[in-house]
Amino acid sequence: MTSSDQVTSGRRREDRAGTLAARPTMSESAAPLSYDPELERLEIELLLEGIYRHYGFDFRSYAYASIRRRLWRRIEAEGLQTISALQERLLHEPATMERVLLDLSINVTAMFRDPSFYLAFRQKVVPLLRTYPFIRIWHAGCSTGEEVYSMAILLEEEGLYERARIYATDINEVVVHRARTGIFPLDRMQEYTENYIKAGGTRSFSEYYVAKYDGALFSPSLQRNVVFSQHNLVTDRSFAEFNVILCRNVLIYFDRTLQSRVHGLFYESLVHLGILCLGSKETLRLSEYETSYEELSGANRIYRKIR
Ligand SMILES: C[S@@+](CC[C@H](N)C(=O)[O-])C[C@H]1O[C@@H](n2cnc3c(N)ncnc32)[C@H](O)[C@@H]1O
Repeated sequence: MTSSDQVTSGRRREDRAGTLAARPTMSESAAPLSYDPELERLEIELLLEGIYRHYGFDFRSYAYASIRRRLWRRIEAEGLQTISALQERLLHEPATMERVLLDLSINVTAMFRDPSFYLAFRQKVVPLLRTYPFIRIWHAGCSTGEEVYSMAILLEEEGLYERARIYATDINEVVVHRARTGIFPLDRMQEYTENYIKAGGTRSFSEYYVAKYDGALFSPSLQRNVVFSQHNLVTDRSFAEFNVILCRNVLIYFDRTLQSRVHGLFYESLVHLGILCLGSKETLRLSEYETSYEELSGANRIYRKIR
């Protein structure tokens, strides 16, 4: 399935929101210099509503400032002037929606990203996982899969991979497809090797890949126990009970209400004493689930569900 098909297949046809005409002067950073903030917000809300009702992707509760910045960048890249013009184009052209989806879903990632997290995972979580006969892990918002392969390597080295099943999901089918290929940019292997060593890796990182197809092709054995699929944290439900959920660098893009909803989803999806791992800028503090977890490593955002 092509990414255009993916965008088209998610269509819902109830709505055709109208367009508004306003022509701001653009600054160099693509932000409008003269745009009525209320009109801007209205147009952005209409655009997000249009995306949701026409394509089924719900960005309505994503952090406004980030959405606004990315939309203006896309407007400039498309050679357009207004948010409404972008709305019109993306509603009529799935290929434009595909580009907007890539802009809005922000897929930046790395192998062994934040190495101290993986080190803490080895030290604090692995001993707990050893007590389970079978381990179910969910990477929610896995992007192109770098963190999934990192976890597979870690579990392999700790002798736990055979008893693990990893579910790796993302809203964006394009990145999920890339994750399945197991091919990553060759020019990032130096950085990943350094991360791997800092993360407590016990072998030579180059054992895990071969240079192929202009990239680094990771060993297919790392995918043996991995299931990649599309899943939307905003609109889809849980699909299993997990011992570990990793959702790193995803919730920062959501507003408080949506963060709370997703925390509810994770809480329901974790077994008693299950582990929740968040990104370095994300926290359970001040969330309604704060008291349901204890910190295993606060600095590395590793929590355990205790009630
Ligand atoms: C910045 S990346 C983080 C990737 C990886 N977790 C990491 O920490 O390196 C954020 C990912 O969240 C995904 N995402 C955004 N909204 C989502 C949603 N509603 N449901 C599932 N994934 C979502 C994006 O497509 C993107 O791949």
